[in-house]
Amino acid sequence: MRRRIAAGNWKMNGVSADLREARAIAQAAQGLAVETLLGLPATLIMAARDMSVTLGGQDCHAEPKGAFTGDLSAPMLADAGAQFVIVGHSERRALHGETDAAVAAKARAAQAAGLTAVICIGETEAQYRGGATLEVLAAQLSGSLPAGATAESTIVAYEPVWAIGTGLTPTPDEIQAVHAFIRDRLPDRDIAVLYGGSVSPANAATIFSLADVDGGLVGGASLKAETFIPIMQALEDAR
Ligand code: 13P
Repeated sequence: MRRRIAAGNWKMNGVSADLREARAIAQAAQGLAVETLLGLPATLIMAARDMSVTLGGQDCHAEPKGAFTGDLSAPMLADAGAQFVIVGHSERRALHGETDAAVAAKARAAQAAGLTAVICIGETEAQYRGGATLEVLAAQLSGSLPAGATAESTIVAYEPVWAIGTGLTPTPDEIQAVHAFIRDRLPDRDIAVLYGGSVSPANAATIFSLADVDGGLVGGASLKAETFIPIMQALEDAR
């Protein structure tokens, strides 16, 4: 049985007043068999650590400590109450110049600290239009996944860059084909492969019905309980 995971990524959103949304999401998560993960801003992790939801950070440094002003290490996130960390999000790859090798180093650091690494991959719009999607994903997978990645230590999130925050998604057939392609290249076929990019209460049931989709990595719709809980429920009800 593969893991089934509804994961939220709050990105650079959320102050302490927004913990009420996290609390409502955690309460709903308690009644579900699927896993619910929340990638909070690091400033909120400690305050949410007693909630019944799996908490995570959104990035970590590859080193456990040192003179890296402004950065956070995987052991620091674990100490605050995180159980996972997102690495290689397309926003980090694009805006912070993170390479596949840097992402793999971060994933190794996460795993060394006992955190699950949620490793993100995805093609840009130009790559999609140019028919290069599978080639790009194959390169990102081989470059970003640490050797020996397992279903326990690793989650892969397929997030087409052009689908993030745009309201656009690939067709269900495209998503399924890409997920099957990804699964064929995983060191452990049981690693959960999540889809991310404009997941909403309206499209979640369709996306989660696909054979090789094990859940979602959700941005905007994860910020509010009223939009994230229906997505969690759609995963619970799928297949
Ligand atoms: P949206 O759900 O807002 O498109 O964001 C997806 C994402 O980047 C999650 O990591």
